[in-house]
Amino acid sequence: TKQIFSGVQPSGNFTLGNYIGAMKRFVALQEEGNCIYSIVDLHSITVPKEPKALREYTMQLAAMYLSIGINPEKSILFIQSHVKEHAELGWLMQCTGYIGELERMTQYKDKSTGKDVVTCGLLTYPALMAADILLYDATHVPVGEDQKQHLEFTRDMAERFNKKYGETFVVPEPMIQEFGGRIMSLDDPSKKMSKSNPNAASYVALLDEPSAIVKKIKRAVTDSEGIVRYDKVNKPAISNLLTIYSVCSNEPIETIEQRYEGRGYGDFKKDLAEVVVNALTPIQQEYTRWMASPELEDILKQGAERATAIASVTMDRARRNMGLVTF
Ligand code: TYM
Repeated sequence: TKQIFSGVQPSGNFTLGNYIGAMKRFVALQEEGNCIYSIVDLHSITVPKEPKALREYTMQLAAMYLSIGINPEKSILFIQSHVKEHAELGWLMQCTGYIGELERMTQYKDKSTGKDVVTCGLLTYPALMAADILLYDATHVPVGEDQKQHLEFTRDMAERFNKKYGETFVVPEPMIQEFGGRIMSLDDPSKKMSKSNPNAASYVALLDEPSAIVKKIKRAVTDSEGIVRYDKVNKPAISNLLTIYSVCSNEPIETIEQRYEGRGYGDFKKDLAEVVVNALTPIQQEYTRWMASPELEDILKQGAERATAIASVTMDRARRNMGLVTF
């Protein structure tokens, strides 16, 4: 059976990109293996946050995981900082990876260039991510395409450690979707959709009101051809909208292309907005319910206990194999 691990940062404003690229898949994977999903708060603080905001975002993300359909009876859902082994193995990974490898990470370059100060954690972030995955002997890691490089680093760390200290870690496989692995910005199809974009019209947030979704999709850039056709190279904007349509309506791209044959972008966008609103409305209703639920805390406590039971075994193995004295 598959051992599945993934994490999402509690940085507020989850987007349709997070949902389509990763989180929607988390739900389906519950039928395929043992799933462990984390709210990676230790990753979020690589760019310092207001404590109050971090606390809120953390609980909001927990509620969001449950709202999209993560079942806490089946899957383990926990807050990363509640399982101390993440920080601990993270250190061992920092002492396994090389600075040069970390400096080459595109996410690090994107997030650090032009900044007055950059935390040490922003550089060593992939070492912590490797620890997240390796602690659970994960075989499969569903992520969006932007995490591919970090997954390659994780595989390198597992292999390097195993070679040097003996068989310790499982080398994980990334699971990146061909459609939806990279959802692009609504205002610029050459950039990925991101919650950190200062232009809120560039992304659909999972908690956006229907009227905001309609407005954002109406304003989304297209092209001058006027034909609804999937062609990633020549028609990146329309291809992105078609991907969103297809994932949210569970229809193949061709069916949608046929539906809009001989019709303009206006009709297509109007229906797309409706499709997105219909996909998000039930999630938003569940979200309101979970945010008010006293169960949320218990679920996270239990999740942390179940996660610790697994992580502590791997941690002991790593410690012992590396030569740290254990009694
Ligand atoms: P994060 O929090 O930035 O994003 C969560 C997930 O959403 C995906 N994603 C996208 N997919 C498609 N199109 C987009 N525009 C888009 N934007 C975001 C991301 O690829 C990710 O899968 N480092 C990770 C969190 C993490 C993690 C882990 C993931 C920490 N430890 C261990 C897997 C395994 C991150 O910052 O994701």
